[in-house]
Amino acid sequence: MSEDEFRAALSRLSAGVVLVTAHDPEEGARGEDVGMTATAFMSVSLDPPLVMVSVRNGSRMDDLLARQPLWAVSVLSESQRHIAGRFAMKGRISDRLLFEDIPYTRGEATGAPLVGGALAIVECRTEQRVTAGDHTLVVGRVLRAGTPSADGGPLMYFRGRYHTLG
Ligand SMILES: Cc1cc2nc3c(=O)[nH]c(=O)nc-3n(C[C@H](O)[C@H](O)[C@H](O)COP(=O)(O)O)c2cc1C
Repeated sequence: MSEDEFRAALSRLSAGVVLVTAHDPEEGARGEDVGMTATAFMSVSLDPPLVMVSVRNGSRMDDLLARQPLWAVSVLSESQRHIAGRFAMKGRISDRLLFEDIPYTRGEATGAPLVGGALAIVECRTEQRVTAGDHTLVVGRVLRAGTPSADGGPLMYFRGRYHTLG
């Protein structure tokens, strides 16, 4: 099996797009918010409430979640494609400017940015970390969950492109 075959096959699995966020208290004088676009996010358990995100080893979010147990997920709506695009850029130095024109609140349980207008918000504390190849599966206990925006469809990713339902 080649890498191309693997990528092609798995790109046929349509997925909702989320923004994983966390606050980095060690960056700069006042700390810095960090975000990462992700599709490898899933619900794991209801009792206790657990979710999971798969984070590439060596990525900025991986480095941060290794020392920051509190993080959040914003489930992006179809009108938030620009947010997904900017938080997927490789090798960026700082996320400070990326959050500047995005409406967000700070999670009560985690201090992580919660994107305004997201379909759903989940705040978590890391419960388990499992190394899986070149990624780490970060399992989080859900501390708070909400559905701030009732309207609008999801942002989807399928065959390497963003889509909307319908
Ligand atoms: C649609 C989409 C989904 C992605 N899903 C994930 C994911 O689930 N896990 C992950 O580690 N990276 C994922 N990425 C890549 C990260 O967003 C990207 O590598 C990261 O933001 C760039 O920062 P880095 O230079 O620190 O890797 C995804 C990218 C896109 C465009």
